[in-house]
Amino acid sequence: MADLSRVLPEVREFLAGRPVRMYIGGKWVEAVEGGTFRTLDPGDGTELATVAEGRAADIDRAVNAAREAFLESGWATMPVRDRAVLLHRLADLVDRHRPALAQLESLDVGKPLTAAESIDIPNVAQTLRWYADLAVRTRLREPIAVSGYEAWQVRMPYGVAAFILPWNFPLLLVGWNLAPALAAGNTVVVKPAEDTPLSTLYFCRLVEEAGIPPGVVNVVPGFGDKAGAALAEHPGINRMGFTGSPEVGRQIAAACGANLVPVKLELGGKGAAVVFDDVDPVATARQLVGAITFNTGQVCCTATRWLIHERIWEPFVAAAREMLSAVKIGHGQESDTQMGPLVSEKQRARVLGYLEKGLATGGEALLPGGRAEVPGHPCGFYVRPAMLTGHPDNICARDEIFGPVAFLMRFGDEAESIELVNRSPYGLANSVWTRDLERAGRVAVSLVAGNSWINGHNLFPHGVPYAGCNLSGMGGGVLGPETLMDYLRPQSVVRPLE
Ligand code: NAI
Ligand code: MG
Repeated sequence: MADLSRVLPEVREFLAGRPVRMYIGGKWVEAVEGGTFRTLDPGDGTELATVAEGRAADIDRAVNAAREAFLESGWATMPVRDRAVLLHRLADLVDRHRPALAQLESLDVGKPLTAAESIDIPNVAQTLRWYADLAVRTRLREPIAVSGYEAWQVRMPYGVAAFILPWNFPLLLVGWNLAPALAAGNTVVVKPAEDTPLSTLYFCRLVEEAGIPPGVVNVVPGFGDKAGAALAEHPGINRMGFTGSPEVGRQIAAACGANLVPVKLELGGKGAAVVFDDVDPVATARQLVGAITFNTGQVCCTATRWLIHERIWEPFVAAAREMLSAVKIGHGQESDTQMGPLVSEKQRARVLGYLEKGLATGGEALLPGGRAEVPGHPCGFYVRPAMLTGHPDNICARDEIFGPVAFLMRFGDEAESIELVNRSPYGLANSVWTRDLERAGRVAVSLVAGNSWINGHNLFPHGVPYAGCNLSGMGGGVLGPETLMDYLRPQSVVRPLE
C-alpha cells in the first residue's frame, strides 16, 4: 500500500473505499459486473486505491442517466444565469477542496504537490468560472435579416457529451472539457484514464454538493478497450471529446463516424522551440529546462525539439546540461521535489525504449538520462532528464516520447529553422525565442501548428483558443470562446412574411 501518513483525513477516507465507486445518475455505484482495478502511486509503485471498473453495461447506464437528466432535470432548460450560479458554486467548492484534490492528483499522477496546488486545481476553478460567465454573456438567439421572411437562429445544447480523457492533467482537463459543455446546457459522461481516475471521482462529490442535478455529470472509470470503446461507440451520445494518443484518436473518430457523432480530438505533439542568437542563452535554457521537466515531460504541447542558433549552441548546451543535471527528482509529496516519476511502468518503458532506439540509430547523448534511483522510493517509475542531438530524422526527433527528453538541433538561419520545425507531422504548439519581435511574429506564423508562442512556452490564458492541426487533432480545440459554441447546436427558425 502507498504511504498515506501525510494525507488529509478526507483523502484517506476517500481512498479507503473498497472499491472507490463510480458516479452515475447522482448515485455512487459499483460496476454492474462487480469488477475492480487498482490505481498506483507512481512514486512508489504501490497501490493507492481499488476502483470500480466500468464496462459496457456501466457506460450504458451512464449514458441513459445523462440522457434522462438532459430531458428531465431542468439543467438544459434553466435560465443560463441559474446554470452559471451552479457552476460558480462548483468552482468555489473546487477552491475550498484544493488541498484534498491536489493531494489526490499528486499521488495518482506522481506530480509535485506544489504543482497540483498552484496549477492544476486552481485552473479547474478558473475554467468553470470563465465558461459560466461567457455563457451568461453569449446571445443564444440572433435575428437574421433577409427580405420576405422573419428569421432567427437559436443555439441549443446537443444533449449528452462524452469525454475520454488522459492521465497527464486529469482534473485540469476535466475543467477544459466539461466547463464549456456544461455551461452550454449539455449533460456529460466522462471516462477518466485508468492510471488516474481519483481526482475526477472526488470532483463528483463537489458536483453533488454544489446542487447540480443528478445525472448531469457521470463518471465511469475503467480501461480504454472496454469502458472507453463502449462510450465512443454508444449511439446515445451526441458529442465526443477525446484527449490522448493519435492511435486511439483514430479509433474514437472511426467509432463516432459510424454513428455520425461530431468529435473533437486533442492529440499529441512534437513541439519545437526556435532559439535565435540574440537571446540570453542561459535564461532561455532555464525556461526550456522548466518546460521539458514540467509534469516530467508528459505534456502534449511542451518543447521537445530545441532548435538552437549555431552561434549560441555551446553556451546554451552547457547551461541546459548543468540545470537538467541539478533537477531534484523525487516523490510528488516531498516539498523539494521538482520532477516526479513518470505515470506508470508502461510510460517509463516507452521513454527508456525511445532513448535506446534514438542512440542506437545515430543519436548522440548530450546528457544521457535513463532510470533514476530515488532514495527511499526504490520502486517508483523515475527517470533522469536527457538531451540528445543528431539527424532530424532520428526517431527521438520525430516521435512523441512524452517524457523529459529534449532533442537538440543547430540551425543557421530563419528559413532553415522553419523547415526543421515543419518536418513534423504533428501541429500542436511551438515557440520562438528572440528579442526581434518582427522576426518573432514572422516565424510564429510560418510554423504550421495550432499555437505559436513568443518568448515563452506552455502559455494558456483563458480565452485564447488552443487546438492542434494535422496529427495533433481536429474539431475545434479548447479554451476559446468558440469552444462554448461547439457545444451549442445551431437551429434556424423561418417564417414567410405576409
Ligand atoms: P491513450 O491514448 O491510450 O489513453 C488516453 C485515454 O484513451 C485513456 O482514458 C484510455 O483509457 C483511453 N483509451 C485507450 N484505448 C481506447 C480505446 N480503444 N477506445 C476508447 N478509449 C481508449 O494514451 P496512453 O496509452 O496512456 O499513452 C500513450 C501515448 O499517448 C503517450 O506516451 C503520449 O505520447 C500520448 N498521450 C498524449 C496525451 C495528450 O495530452 N495529448 C495524453 C496521454 C497520452
Ligand atoms: Mg495512479
